[in-house]
Amino acid sequence: PRAVEGFPEPTVHSQEAHPPDSDFTSRWTRADARQLKAMSDPAAGPRENSMPEEYTAPTVPISFPDMSGGRVWVWDSWPLTDSAADQYSFKGWEVIFSLVADRNLGFDDRHTYAKLGYFFRKAGIPADQRPENGGWTYGGLVFPEGVSGEVFEDQSFSHQTEWSGSTRIFKGGNVKVFYTAVAFYRNAQGEDVKPADARIMMTPGKLKADANGVRFTGFEIHHELLKPDGKWYQNGEQNPYYNFRDPFTFKDPAHPGKTYMVFEGNTATVRGTPACTEEDLGYRPGDPHAEDLETVRSSDARLQMANVGLAVATNDDLSSWRFLPPILSANCVTDQTERPQIYMKDGKYYLFTISHRSTFAEGIDGPEGVYAFVGNGIRSDYQPVNRGSGLAVGNPTNLNYATGFPFDPDYNQHPGTFQAYSHYVMPGGLVQSFIDTVGTKDSFRRGGTLGPTIRLDISGETITVDRSYGDGGLGGYADIPANRHANPGTFI
Ligand code: FRU
Repeated sequence: PRAVEGFPEPTVHSQEAHPPDSDFTSRWTRADARQLKAMSDPAAGPRENSMPEEYTAPTVPISFPDMSGGRVWVWDSWPLTDSAADQYSFKGWEVIFSLVADRNLGFDDRHTYAKLGYFFRKAGIPADQRPENGGWTYGGLVFPEGVSGEVFEDQSFSHQTEWSGSTRIFKGGNVKVFYTAVAFYRNAQGEDVKPADARIMMTPGKLKADANGVRFTGFEIHHELLKPDGKWYQNGEQNPYYNFRDPFTFKDPAHPGKTYMVFEGNTATVRGTPACTEEDLGYRPGDPHAEDLETVRSSDARLQMANVGLAVATNDDLSSWRFLPPILSANCVTDQTERPQIYMKDGKYYLFTISHRSTFAEGIDGPEGVYAFVGNGIRSDYQPVNRGSGLAVGNPTNLNYATGFPFDPDYNQHPGTFQAYSHYVMPGGLVQSFIDTVGTKDSFRRGGTLGPTIRLDISGETITVDRSYGDGGLGGYADIPANRHANPGTFI
């Protein structure tokens, strides 16, 4: 990629692969992330999108349908997958897992009440022949009451939740749910009396199906897999606002016999330490738009220290894991690289992760959306896609105006600026996400349901939105189709 006038050149990244257990961590640099602002149109007026159309999702209409018929708030969701991220139906039923919360809560209060719920629907029906809301039946909560809190030594928590993860399916309807157990210790005023405690967990269960739908048994034993070590992955003592969650497991054909996991973490420094380096800034020698290291790391940018973690299973039943060094850091770039996943295509490895406009560091700006990095292995010198920026697909956003909030949009913002979050990239480049808010300051509607599925064309260092998919680029709402079908006796 070449420099845009007034902006630095992006960092040179080789895409070269390193052994998964080596200590090479690729960097999403400030020079890379400043390409986001470089591609924003400074002349875009109020409520217009300032970002290139090819990296912007089509606008979601405010008339969107609700997938649970008003029963629960729904956000982060995922299908039943195998070690290659193929998506399965089971005995004719598609099954998805979603974070859910009671509709009597405000949508922004959901995080401390999240539980894992599930939905099912008949497999094999094209999206345009389903009900507009995707045609899912809500099956209820996945786990027996209370078991996901048993892991915490300190049982005095005020709130205990189940956060994101992924679900693997095995022979005979056996499943393993990977998720994040979080305990909050808050007083009556809602302040933390001690930092939240997050653990990456796995629980085995069994999926059963009949003519009426599916249900689960098991999930009584919950294995703690990982808690942040304070060495590669920041913990609550180092930063009460640390991020540690969202496990996604997979196998790498280049390293047969091993199962890996990516997850959301932070670089393990004490909050506020001016820790980012020249390499994190990533400017080429002599770049006239380079920043001064001391200026950057003494600014608030030092508080934004995201990484994507890697771990490897140390037993066959995936109940014991070991940390490896992070595969990506975004030091002084953003504080959150959430729900990471590894996606393989044409011999390349794509690391997808979601990030917020509000979590970018001082001096960096970019839309709410899904970001992507391409390399030759799971640990490689990842090249951020699309002009070196990393943006795969963003919400329509105007970077010339303030971010606003999902509960109080900025007057000048595009109505789609909070239309989608928690994107999950599926086989064939399909992407599902949940709706947070659609509309403008004077007229907006909260989501709490899955939005329309879109499709990305993924090729080399370029990822673009397929506007020929569905209706002008918008596919079915809550459309999470299986691309594989497991029947009794199928070996997965
Ligand atoms: C993304 C996310 C996840 C987390 C969940 C908690 O939407 O922040 O990282 O698991 O939401 O609600």
